[in-house]
Parts: sequence; structure tokens; C-alpha cells
Amino acid sequence: MRWFELIRYAWSTARTRLLWGPRLHSLGARCVLGRKQMVRTPRAVSIGSRVTICDGFVFADLVPGMGQYPKIRIGNGVTILFRFQCNAAKSVVIGDNVLIASNVLITDSDHIVQPGGVPVTRNPNFITRPIVIEHNCWIGQNAVILKGVTIGHDSVIGANSVVTRDVAPCSIVAGNPARLIKMTGPQKSASSGSFTEPAPNQERPAWNQ
Ligand SMILES: CC(C)(COP(=O)(O)OP(=O)(O)OC[C@H]1O[C@@H](n2cnc3c(N)ncnc32)[C@H](O)[C@@H]1OP(=O)(O)O)[C@@H](O)C(=O)NCCC(=O)NCCS
Repeated sequence: MRWFELIRYAWSTARTRLLWGPRLHSLGARCVLGRKQMVRTPRAVSIGSRVTICDGFVFADLVPGMGQYPKIRIGNGVTILFRFQCNAAKSVVIGDNVLIASNVLITDSDHIVQPGGVPVTRNPNFITRPIVIEHNCWIGQNAVILKGVTIGHDSVIGANSVVTRDVAPCSIVAGNPARLIKMTGPQKSASSGSFTEPAPNQERPAWNQ
């Protein structure tokens, strides 16, 4: 890195720590977060070390104050490009070293539409199933990952894919709904480091517990 890049990186990591360190559930070392679009309940989000998240991200805790925190857990070495949206009522786990392209939506919940019942805009309930993305996956641009999906380690999700079912480790899936097109390599058993839980933020002020 040249000296001005080093200064910019140091400034970005310091700014991230200053802005987000006290508010998130936890924030590891050397993270760079761009400009947010929206973060609903910062303490619902836990971020590991060496994580980069570009501008326009949305983290939405769909049922604030309910369930176990953190609800959104991002591992070490994760890179997320522009306009990422992650909605969680219960749990979204993103493993170590996952690469997420721009405009990706990950949501563990669906709204409930009841004919003649509570209007969808006012219905506080959701249909929710947790999402796990294991380590070393690449999620292509505009992909959508829906509730209840586990994406096995070392997998690729093609651009514009809608993932509705589990993806086996080392798979390349694409399309809507996403289907297996090939493998990234022979399947190996999950190695260590699939997700490293960061320590909770000790500096969090009392009002943000
Ligand atoms: C998924 C992907 C990696 C597969 O690449 P590949 O291994 O070279 O795959 P191929 O081009 O050989 O395609 C194999 C088949 O899958 C289909 N396919 C590939 N990508 C697809 C996609 N995103 N959606 C639907 N079908 C797709 C191809 O049409 C082809 O079908 P066919 O056998 O019927 O002709 C690539 O197509 C892709 O989507 N990359 C994501 C790029 C991106 O989002 N970049 C963001 C920058 S981080």
C-alpha cells in the first residue's frame, strides 16, 4: 500500500470503530464500513475482524426487542459490496471469508398476507426460518437468499439467482429458483473456521444493552 492509501485505510477503520464500535453487538479489528442506508437495532448485528462493507447497506431487525441477540452474525474476512440488505427476525449467519456482490438480499422472514385479516402493512408477524451461509462462499450480484436456506461452504451463487432451498457444500447454483449447475471441487468435510463468534462488545453503553 502507498502512504496515502495507508492513511485512508487507517482513517476508515478508525471512523468505523468510532461510529459503530459502541453501538453494534460486537465489532472486530480492522473493519471498514461504508455509509449505511438503514440500520434498525445496531445491537442485533455482530461483525468479525477484517470485514469490509461498502456503501448503502441495510441491516433490519424485523422484530426489535424480541428473540436472541445478535440476530445477524458476520464472520471474519467477509467482503460485502454495495447496497447489501439483510433482514433478520431470528438469525442470519454469514461465515468467514464470504464474498457478497452488490445488490444482494438475505432475509430470514416472509410477511403474512391474510385475505380479510390484518393488512400486511400492519401485521407484526412473520414466517421465519434461520439462514446460514458457510465459509468461503461467493454470492453473485443481485442474488436473493430466502428463509431457511443453508448454503454449504465453498459454494457459488450465480448472478440474479433466487435461492429457495439448501445448497450442498462446493456447489455452483444459478437461476430462479437456483439449481445446481456444477461443483467448485470435490466436497470436503467442513473445516474449522466456518464461523468465528466475535466477543460481545464490552464497551456498549447501558442504554444499548
Ligand atoms: C455462476 C457463475 C459463476 C457460473 O460461471 P461458469 O462456471 O463459467 O458457468 P457457465 O457459463 O459454464 O454456465 C453453465 C450453465 O449455467 C448457466 N448459468 C450460468 N450462470 C447463470 C446465472 N447467473 N443464472 C442462470 N443461469 C446461469 C449457463 O447459462 C449455462 O447453462 P447451459 O449449460 O444450459 O448453457 C457465473 O455465471 C455467475 O453468475 N457469476 C457471477 C458474477 C457476479 O455476480 N459478479 C459480481 C462481482 S463480485
